[in-house]
Amino acid sequence: MKWLLLLMIPMYIFAAASFITEDEYASSLYKNPRGIGCDKCHGENGKGLLVAKYVDNGVQKEFRGPDITALGFKKFYESLDSRKRGMPRYFLTKDEIETLYKYLHKEKK
Ligand code: HEC
Repeated sequence: MKWLLLLMIPMYIFAAASFITEDEYASSLYKNPRGIGCDKCHGENGKGLLVAKYVDNGVQKEFRGPDITALGFKKFYESLDSRKRGMPRYFLTKDEIETLYKYLHKEKK
């Protein structure tokens, strides 16, 4: 009996995964995009975030993720398709980048 239950768990997870809405998918991609979540540096809504303050050679410095909500899609896409200072390189598909872009530009509810 136990083994039967164990066998069914992945089926439930699989079934549940295919029933998430587009919004839920976009939100989870933003927070967990095969790498460190965008929210860790750009904030929950992409409005930017102060990640760390540190002293470099006696100079006070800040590391922050910029606001990424005001970019056009072309700029957004290119930024994610190239190496950035301080930002990890992601290998996202065009569809995924579109999903992220829509997520950051969805109508405020
Ligand atoms: C470790 C922190 C960090 C993470 C995680 C991160 N970014 Fe960034 N991002 C940055 C920094 C820092 C910059 C500014 C880079 C520069 O000035 O060259 C940046 C720049 C950008 C830009 C360009 C902004 C502009 O005005 O040109 C976009 C778009 C962007 N990030 C989107 C994302 C998305 C989408 C994700 C998740 C897939 C993500 N970032 C994850 C730190 C991060």
